[in-house]
Amino acid sequence: MSETGSSSRFFTLANLRKETNRPEIFAITSGKGGVGKTNISVNLALLLRRLKKNVLLVDADIHLGNVDLMLGLRPSGNLADVISGEKTLEDIIVKGPTGIDVLPASSAVLDMIDAEEDVLKKLEESFLGFEHNYDIVVVDTGAGIGRNVTSFSLGADKVVVVVTPDPASIADAYGVIKILLQKAPDLAIMLVTNMVHSEDEGENLFKKMDLMVQRFLQSKILFGGAILRDENVQDAVRRQTPVVLEYPNSRPSNALKLMTRNLLKLPSKDATERTGLFQGVREHRHITVGKDND
Ligand SMILES: Nc1ncnc2c1ncn2[C@@H]1O[C@H](COP(=O)(O)OP(=O)(O)OP(=O)(O)O)[C@@H](O)[C@H]1O
Ligand SMILES: [Mg+2]
Repeated sequence: MSETGSSSRFFTLANLRKETNRPEIFAITSGKGGVGKTNISVNLALLLRRLKKNVLLVDADIHLGNVDLMLGLRPSGNLADVISGEKTLEDIIVKGPTGIDVLPASSAVLDMIDAEEDVLKKLEESFLGFEHNYDIVVVDTGAGIGRNVTSFSLGADKVVVVVTPDPASIADAYGVIKILLQKAPDLAIMLVTNMVHSEDEGENLFKKMDLMVQRFLQSKILFGGAILRDENVQDAVRRQTPVVLEYPNSRPSNALKLMTRNLLKLPSKDATERTGLFQGVREHRHITVGKDND
């Protein structure tokens, strides 16, 4: 490309539009597995869609096909096919219910984290070509505090940490919050308490975690709300239909709606200051998680 060609790239209207329409990234994480991340990610994506947002739901959980299962989808490929050059990103994106798009990445996320810089730059460029179609990218990061999880969370604009009253979940959620705040002190972190027996229990769990964060990490987290343990959620998961579609007026659906509103209310970065999905991963994938963070 000529000198003029490359510099003019930055001034075309099309590029200006793309840059100003960069989507916001919401990452859903937890530390401990099985606490409700995928359920929350899927329903959040659908509720955002209901609010007329264009949404891309990214299944970045390295354990097999959670998002696909919950939505009853059968993707024809995943990110591994893009990394190997067999498919394009657009080829592997599948349509989910109500018009959300789903990017099946799952176990290929590990290939991506370990990929050459060029591979990630190619992914980044390719997503740049159509990321402006989305207002919000929701990433189901999967469990743990590995680089696959932290690189997505650190590249996100807002992070939802899911915790249940189980002591192991509390310890792991605190561990994740600690790592994220050490690496990104200004990151907006919202705690959602799931599978609680009452709203009071959920709020008290939040207060306890917030106190720990204030005392030991000199920071603050925000409360996204409490989702009760409810058989409608289990039933919806079994039916492979998200609870907000299957039981739209149930208590968990109402709690998920409140969580969505709370998340949208958090101040967001200016669209021009946001980081791209793959750029975020590329910039944060070498962050090592030390023993003292466990
Ligand atoms: N509020 C709830 N009430 C009752 N059951 C729930 C609730 N939230 C989640 N569950 C149940 O917990 C199970 C695990 O949920 P989910 O798959 O969303 O967790 P996860 O954190 O994504 O797990 P993993 O770490 O394995 O990816 C689901 O089968 C679902 O039935
Ligand atoms: Mg999951």
